[in-house]
Amino acid sequence: MHTVKVNLNKRSYKVIIGFNTINLLGQFLNKLNIGFDAYVITDYAIKNKYGKILDKILRQSGFTVKFKNIPDRENSKSLEMSFSILKDIAHYDFRRRIFIIAFGGGVVGDLAGFVASVYKRGIPYIQIPTTLLAQVDSSIGGKTGVDLPEGKNLVGSFYQPRIVLIDIKLLYSLNQRQIRSGLAEVIKYGIIKDKGLFSYLETKNRDILALDEKFLENIIKRSTQIKASLVSIDERDNKGFRTILNFGHTVGHAIEAAGNYRIYNHGEAIALGMLIASDISRRLRLINHATFERIEKLIRIFGLPVKIESISLSDIINAHYRDKKFIGKINRFVLIADIGKTKIVDNIPLDIIKESVKNRLSNITPT
Ligand SMILES: NC(=O)c1ccc[n+]([C@@H]2O[C@H](COP(=O)([O-])OP(=O)(O)OC[C@H]3O[C@@H](n4cnc5c(N)ncnc54)[C@H](O)[C@@H]3O)[C@@H](O)[C@H]2O)c1
Ligand SMILES: [Zn+2]
Repeated sequence: MHTVKVNLNKRSYKVIIGFNTINLLGQFLNKLNIGFDAYVITDYAIKNKYGKILDKILRQSGFTVKFKNIPDRENSKSLEMSFSILKDIAHYDFRRRIFIIAFGGGVVGDLAGFVASVYKRGIPYIQIPTTLLAQVDSSIGGKTGVDLPEGKNLVGSFYQPRIVLIDIKLLYSLNQRQIRSGLAEVIKYGIIKDKGLFSYLETKNRDILALDEKFLENIIKRSTQIKASLVSIDERDNKGFRTILNFGHTVGHAIEAAGNYRIYNHGEAIALGMLIASDISRRLRLINHATFERIEKLIRIFGLPVKIESISLSDIINAHYRDKKFIGKINRFVLIADIGKTKIVDNIPLDIIKESVKNRLSNITPT
């Protein structure tokens, strides 16, 4: 078992990484002393697979338990869903001391964290992430939120969990596509911060894709360390350090949104976004062609998309204007100067962005 710490003074917390760590949940909760009544937010698919186990562990440790199950899709991250959960919590919260458990992927984590942050101006919550993407990324750092029809994550808060309990065993029921989606974020950590991790992914790709325990544990450990260190120095994403986590996300989010969150999942869209950001870096002569090709090869090896299908250039360009890094009309891109080294660049000419996106469109995609 490994522990990674997120250092935020009074809001500091541990990220616990290991196999079967869920069995230790009672012990951790007792130590945290955050309440006696667990309100578990999860989705139907996870509830069916792991609901009974979690329920048993909590009850055996002396907690009362109530589950709230949501549909397993991005549009569960809504104000309407938050409203329905908040009302349900208010009913449950009578002569109890409740805390929230986010038990699921990024959708559940973002929504549960948001609800925890606004109910009675904030009640304690913990994260038990069940997808690779949530384990390496979304469960750590306290960015919570829901979407509006106008855009993703437009309503939200910074609200840190009291612990993040990563149980790698839970990942074995994910399908390959969901695993790959998480691997896209792991590749991102290599590109922005850790050349060693990048080479590890290059050489150990087979073991990782075979979900070999040791290799899986290594990449999760390293990814969480990188995320935790950036969050620790820039909790509210206003000092410039945390921004680099957005590598690939400016155009990635646009691709995800332009495909209505159905054509590409988050990791797949981010893989395409990273290729476009790398290509822009190459066009601006920040990296050479060989570095670009290494990145493209790694993304391909991990079975992530390298071409955009069924989404038009204009839809992507229109959606990219919604990026939160835009300041008025000026865009801001996280680019790279090498593998492991980022460079933030403002005001990239639209022509360059368009050319890069166009280059990624498959032949059958309308422009
Ligand atoms: N807050 C942040 O910092 C942050 C960072 C990255 C992404 N996100 C958000 O995360 C969301 C995407 O998260 P995600 O990729 O985890 O998707 P998700 O939460 O939709 O989960 C994907 C699918 O996997 C299923 N699933 C989850 N765990 C499972 C398991 N152990 N076994 C079998 N199936 C399982 C779910 O039921 C769902 O169908 C997006 O909304 C994105 O905006 C947030
Ligand atoms: Zn992401």
